[in-house]
Amino acid sequence: MRYVVTGAAGFIGSHLLRALLERGHEATGWDAFTDYYDTSLKEENARGLPVERLDVVEDTLHLEGVDGVFHLAGQPGVRSFGGVFPVYVRQNVLASQRLFEAAVAAGARTVLASSSSIYGDAASYPTPEDTVPRPLSPYGITKLACEHLAHAYAQEFSLDEVVLRYFTIFGPRQRPDMALARMVECLAQGLPFELFGNGTQSRSFTFVDDAVEATIAAMERAPSGATYNVGGGEEVSVLQALEALAAVAGRRLEVVRSPRREGDATRTAADTTRIASELGWAPQTSFEDGIAAQWRWAADRVAAR
Ligand code: UGA
Repeated sequence: MRYVVTGAAGFIGSHLLRALLERGHEATGWDAFTDYYDTSLKEENARGLPVERLDVVEDTLHLEGVDGVFHLAGQPGVRSFGGVFPVYVRQNVLASQRLFEAAVAAGARTVLASSSSIYGDAASYPTPEDTVPRPLSPYGITKLACEHLAHAYAQEFSLDEVVLRYFTIFGPRQRPDMALARMVECLAQGLPFELFGNGTQSRSFTFVDDAVEATIAAMERAPSGATYNVGGGEEVSVLQALEALAAVAGRRLEVVRSPRREGDATRTAADTTRIASELGWAPQTSFEDGIAAQWRWAADRVAAR
């Protein structure tokens, strides 16, 4: 099949593009190389991959002849109050609207990367997809707007779309501002880790290879218009994650406390019944194995510097 991956120099996008090529698909990546984090890390992610420098908001989008587009580009990070809001609107809402226009014109199936952050502090746990969304962060609000846009384009222009709500994806090459990436980097460098809040906040951390499997399955066999949670099988608190890392690394991380960040959910827990029954997907990687892989990756990189 012919696929396009937006955000292909990012964490999940680069894993996905590599997996598609390994499976024999003809796949191209697009990435604007925005400076949300150090762009040299994005260059590193994209090394050896066919990634074009392209801004979905401004550049011409050629999707003619493409079977499917995985729309992973966006401005990430739930800590998104304040003056950065226009950036979230641009990179998430405006970018998705342009992408959907191009996908409709080309007849390309679209898989949209959404987020568990659309639930906020959810009404029930584990959280099924039909829970009323109540995002806590401006970021989550823009991701929910992208979901609604996808459905509106489906309703009015027959966009063939599938929405995936990723739950805190982790593993090698994780975005450097995320908790587990900060933990492994600080431990490898002998620096203290800054803990936001008391550490009892928890996540359905999801290993990146599992997220890639779910994403390809969604493109290949999800019914049009479907929405799925993509979440790991275990709910792990930040304090438990610190313990698990200490166990695999054989040493403890120094922790400095700072206040909870606005927009931060207390808890995420994915109900994955729907994706299991409709796509046959279930997470395969335990948190312990995933954090061990991420730790080895970070420790090797720091040692090689
Ligand atoms: C992550 C991503 O940043 C979002 O882009 C994504 O949409 C979301 O997951 C999702 O998929 O649901 P988050 O769950 O906040 O958001 O991910 P982490 O950065 O790994 O944070 C987990 C917890 O650790 C949060 O409570 C956070 O406040 C805390 N944290 C994070 C720290 O204590 N210290 C840090 O340096 C970073």
